[in-house]
Amino acid sequence: MDQIVVRPGPPLEGTVRVGGAKNAALKLMAATLLAEGDYRLRNVPAITDVETMGEVLMCMGLDVTRIAPDELAIHRGPDCGVEAPYELVERMRASIVVLGPLLGRVGRARVAMPGGDDFGSRPIDMHLAGLEQLGATIEVRHGYIEAWTDGLLGCRITLDFPSVGATENLLLAAVLAKGTTVIDNAAREPEIADLAVFLNRMGATIHGAGTSTIEIEGVTELRPADHMVIPDRVEAATFLAAVALARGEITLEGARADHMGMFIQKMTDMGVWITPTSSGLWASAQGRPRSVDVATLPYPGIATDYKPFLVAVLSVADGVAIVTENLFAGRFKYVSELIRMGANIRTEGHHAVVRGVARLSGAPVRASDIRAGAAMVLAGLNAEGETVVADAFHIDRGYDDLPAKLRQLGADVTREGPTQRASAP
Ligand code: UD1
Repeated sequence: MDQIVVRPGPPLEGTVRVGGAKNAALKLMAATLLAEGDYRLRNVPAITDVETMGEVLMCMGLDVTRIAPDELAIHRGPDCGVEAPYELVERMRASIVVLGPLLGRVGRARVAMPGGDDFGSRPIDMHLAGLEQLGATIEVRHGYIEAWTDGLLGCRITLDFPSVGATENLLLAAVLAKGTTVIDNAAREPEIADLAVFLNRMGATIHGAGTSTIEIEGVTELRPADHMVIPDRVEAATFLAAVALARGEITLEGARADHMGMFIQKMTDMGVWITPTSSGLWASAQGRPRSVDVATLPYPGIATDYKPFLVAVLSVADGVAIVTENLFAGRFKYVSELIRMGANIRTEGHHAVVRGVARLSGAPVRASDIRAGAAMVLAGLNAEGETVVADAFHIDRGYDDLPAKLRQLGADVTREGPTQRASAP
């Protein structure tokens, strides 16, 4: 039994703290491969994906220790392994971000080739083509990416699409390449800007991270650094959607409005009041949400990670909305679960037509991935009767005890079965 049980409760009320960004923390951890020494990362969420990245690094001989609830100490010695095994890459495909730093620093990497996942097929052709342009030789053999180089050389790389992972892998490789690298059509997510801040603190010379053109002057050596991870905009969005569904008035400590402008605009269009405060965001929702159309896009557009929450809110909104997925074709799987809860949603390829119903009805449903699972919990806040979300371990990959944080706001959400809290590494 590994499930979250949600029952209807009063409107939400109170304050909750937003943790560090999963998608930043994972890449910052991979960056510690680049230089020998001791690192401290603060505001690192206690989630199982961080634990998995810790295991990846430990496989390579690094020491990774959680020295406080939200703080990691990482030690990288003079020697470092170069293999990320299938067992870990399969559990978390973001593990492939070790390719870039291993090639840049050690000149060799052996990383399991990730397969498809719940979002459908997820190629990494842009990661590999960019690394080849930088001078790596790459072969895929027996399910592993074997990559090696005598030394990377800076060059101009234009990405076909602003891929987050490809931009990060190339950035992490190029910091130790000889000469200048320019990444054009780079992804602009705040997590990439955060990674660049950390790398610059380590001695790298990166300009333009957070824009479409990133320029990297290669350096010969980097040094360890300490860093505070930016807040998780996707976790913040989860609570804003929660208040839209359950109504009430909440404060999100640590949330940054400047990282989630378009999402805040959408929620405002749907009738939620959101105001930045000195320490985060205040949000209030009093009536039934209004339907608005949504299309996912690379940052600063509406992130695909927000979409399951938006669809959950739209399923009880007043009106009809068209939702378009422009990033991951397979990212509508959870819709069939929402339909089991009484939602009126029709999907056709990349589009979903969501006709709002007055109220959902609680049902047993299944989490198919991190954000889809969280969206099921949110839908349960609005539903009549009990909603039981199975396979809750998916949610633990990206949330540090989501039920406890929702209870802090007065919701009736409980965990049954083992919470996979990330106590280690
Ligand atoms: C990251 C996030 C994920 C988020 C996504 C988009 C992490 C750990 N994950 O995933 O939560 O949903 O950004 O904001 O940070 N593509 C290719 N070839 C490539 C690389 C990507 O075709 O080599 C395609 C993908 O299939 C997808 C699109 O580009 O259609 C965007 O993917 P990408 O930005 O790379 O997402 P991830 O880095 O995997």
